[in-house]
Amino acid sequence: MKSGTWRFLVSFIPLLIYLLYILYSDFSSPKPTTSGCSLLPHQHYWIVSKRIVTPHEIISGAVEINGGSIISLVKEKDWLEKVKNEPVIDYGEAVVMPGLIDVHAHLDDPGRAEWEGFPSGTMAAAAGGITTLIDMPLNSFPSTVSEETLQLKIEAAKGSIFVNVGFWGGLVPENAFNASVLENLLNAGVLGLKSFMCPSGINDFPMTDASHIKEGISVLAKYKRPLLVHAEKVQEIELKDGDDDPRSYSTYLKTRPSSWEEAAIRELLTVSKDTRIGGPAEGAHLHIVHLSDSSSSLELIKEAKSNGDSITVETCPHYLAFTAEDIPDGDTRFKCSPPIRDAPNRQKLWEALMDGDIDMLSSDHSPSVPELKLFTEGDFLRAWGGISSLQFVLPVTWSYGLKYGVTLEKLVSWWSEKPAKLASQDLKGAIEIGKHADIVVWEPEKEFDLDENHTVHLKHPSISAYMGSRLTGRVVATFVNGNLVFEDGKHTPDACGTTILA
Ligand SMILES: *[C@@H]1O[C@H](CO)[C@@H](O)[C@H](O)[C@H]1NC(C)=O
Ligand SMILES: *[C@@H]1O[C@H](CO)[C@@H](O)[C@H](O)[C@H]1NC(C)=O
Ligand SMILES: [Zn+2]
Repeated sequence: MKSGTWRFLVSFIPLLIYLLYILYSDFSSPKPTTSGCSLLPHQHYWIVSKRIVTPHEIISGAVEINGGSIISLVKEKDWLEKVKNEPVIDYGEAVVMPGLIDVHAHLDDPGRAEWEGFPSGTMAAAAGGITTLIDMPLNSFPSTVSEETLQLKIEAAKGSIFVNVGFWGGLVPENAFNASVLENLLNAGVLGLKSFMCPSGINDFPMTDASHIKEGISVLAKYKRPLLVHAEKVQEIELKDGDDDPRSYSTYLKTRPSSWEEAAIRELLTVSKDTRIGGPAEGAHLHIVHLSDSSSSLELIKEAKSNGDSITVETCPHYLAFTAEDIPDGDTRFKCSPPIRDAPNRQKLWEALMDGDIDMLSSDHSPSVPELKLFTEGDFLRAWGGISSLQFVLPVTWSYGLKYGVTLEKLVSWWSEKPAKLASQDLKGAIEIGKHADIVVWEPEKEFDLDENHTVHLKHPSISAYMGSRLTGRVVATFVNGNLVFEDGKHTPDACGTTILA
């Protein structure tokens, strides 16, 4: 070949690299706007605000978004020069923050979509500033305990989710000792596994003990994914005379004392040491869901952390907002497990959260039909357990946290940064160059009443214990993958959230 021909061919190399880059970036970044997916007609634009919460500081400035990702971040004095022909959305004093990542929600789809379902659940999430949620493997039917049952979830989510949705798989006795079933489930894309140390209330999701958990984390270690554990273990309880009024919340509380949480965590710690560096399950991680007991249970978790176990813990807004003393007789909207405990317990939960001993928050949104939740003549023992909260977790955390010194930075840590880490979502959870444009815009000073005139997108607003409250913090707009999916009470026509598979 003549050298001229060579030079001619070589001159195409930059073009080739460019084409490969385009091809690669097309696969690696979220899909940008198509008409029904965003309330904005642009994919390249700037969001301007006086309060943008970035990982290191709160700035007054602008976030540049293109193709679903954050491509630049500038402070006030710079952005006027940089913004040339691109559209600008100026949110003024409203806070611009990473969207919330809810690592614990039950959307009950497929199989029990009449309890919630992907469409209403993710519309409520978007209206509440949640841009990603990880769906639990139970309460839908069948439970997500195999590759085949995960496919049913993925199918059900297709075209019906307004935010990003990932999935946890179930660790149950049936699959715990069968590594190939677990590996197929993990290979099919669940972000980790979840198990119960007490009966779950769902027939096809039986409970596990430490021996199942030990097996599960040895498989998870290879995948570097977490096991989430519902840590309550049934203990003998002694009810005294007069403790038998099923309409009284204290009766229910006595049936699930904090010793149940403590016993489960004590058992869990016999295997959590496997996750230490050099241990047989190094790479796996244990995450205790919805901690309610802020005394002995929390001390055990702190001890495990200090010993080097790879372990984290979440609590939920309902344990931070409500107290057992204030739950009216017969008001079964407040039933959940573990139960909401007394006021001193709540005080210590807040302290542990502020100190970082509790790592993060999740909704544990766990609805049902009103027939199961409300129509039990106020009987706490018969009512379905679970708090319906998905749309309200941001204003609830903020409103109840104000007296404990909550800050915007803390909210971001509990609701975005730490959850992103748990779910291995490196490109989410922060307003930073290169991250996905998953953003909530909200007004922390704005109060509102959660009454009949407030639009609730959840399927069954009446079952939520928050109805009737006055809250502080109104969500103005929510961006998912750069698409404006919710603004001023309005959603996009199409459901363009993506399923997140590992
Ligand atoms: C694991 O489960 C698969 C699928 O149900 C089954 O075919 C296989 O025999 C099981 N293996 C063991 C060791 O139980
Ligand atoms: C809801 O709005 C209607 C119409 O404006 C009003 O009559 C009603 O009192 C409002 N309800 C509450 C609880 O404020
Ligand atoms: Zn749950």
